[in-house]
Amino acid sequence: MLRSPIIDDYRLKEPVVGELPGSRALVTGGTRGIGAAIARHLSDAGARVVVSARSRGDYDGPGHFVAADVATADGPNQLAAEAATHLGGIDILVDNAASQTRVPDGVLAMTDADWLTDLNGSLLSAVRLDRAVVPAMIAAGGGAVVHIGSNAARLPQPAALAYASAKAALATYSKGLANEVGRHNVRVNLVSPGVIETSALAARLQTLADEAGTDLDTARRQFMTTFNVPLQRPGTADDVAALVTFLVSPAASYLTGTNHVIDGGLLPTV
Ligand SMILES: NC(=O)c1ccc[n+]([C@@H]2O[C@H](COP(=O)([O-])OP(=O)(O)OC[C@H]3O[C@@H](n4cnc5c(N)ncnc54)[C@H](OP(=O)(O)O)[C@@H]3O)[C@@H](O)[C@H]2O)c1
Repeated sequence: MLRSPIIDDYRLKEPVVGELPGSRALVTGGTRGIGAAIARHLSDAGARVVVSARSRGDYDGPGHFVAADVATADGPNQLAAEAATHLGGIDILVDNAASQTRVPDGVLAMTDADWLTDLNGSLLSAVRLDRAVVPAMIAAGGGAVVHIGSNAARLPQPAALAYASAKAALATYSKGLANEVGRHNVRVNLVSPGVIETSALAARLQTLADEAGTDLDTARRQFMTTFNVPLQRPGTADDVAALVTFLVSPAASYLTGTNHVIDGGLLPTV
């Protein structure tokens, strides 16, 4: 069987971006948006992929689907076991699934339940899944983990502060995990998207349009104006997937513990 280039990466003389033949990848939240694009890009690069979400919905992309709720205490363990059994091991883990609780009245109106929903969905989901997957990567000689964070961690909005806080904690956790497992040839990186065109963004724009009593195009224009993105457009799921595919590839073998912002220049600070 072909040995995964993830494990042998630093020994390759001329690493090729995006070439992942024989690698085995698990992508959470892989049925829509950014996760579906990541699954497609990894598969195109030659990886075998397990895609997970709470339900398959109308997903018809590549890979083997496993139903799991990663926001629960047991979901990540069950998912890790099923994915490892199907693939024969996991070399690449993309912790992408998340959802966002919005409370229009702001953070002081957020309940414990709101906070726990986002801490479970955007932080503990990754912590638990890593705990179930990374020890086997260490035992196998290496692996690559990518956490999908958010620019919201650095641009917190009052109506979604639990989500932003969970993503900020995810950034700190990513760095600490990278520090701990680097000596085992396991790389951990964070990808922080800005405004990306997905079903989550479409739903948010619809809410904004409804709240303002305007149409979707107007809401979109106002939204983009608010953020003043230098590249003048939202990102696409493919933009993010290309970055993730690079990060898990042999070409990125010296990258770990870093936060890769992909936002068209949206964050105004250095
Ligand atoms: N879109 C943006 O502008 C943007 C910006 C910054 C960061 N991000 C981050 O990028 C990632 C993907 O976002 P997206 O916009 O692609 O979202 P999306 O279009 O809403 O897709 C979310 C995916 O995650 C799954 N999912 C959600 N909760 C889950 C759970 N508890 N257990 C298992 N699967 C779950 C969904 O499937 P089910 O609902 O069937 O479970 C779906 O496959 C998230 O981490 C998000 O925070 C997105």
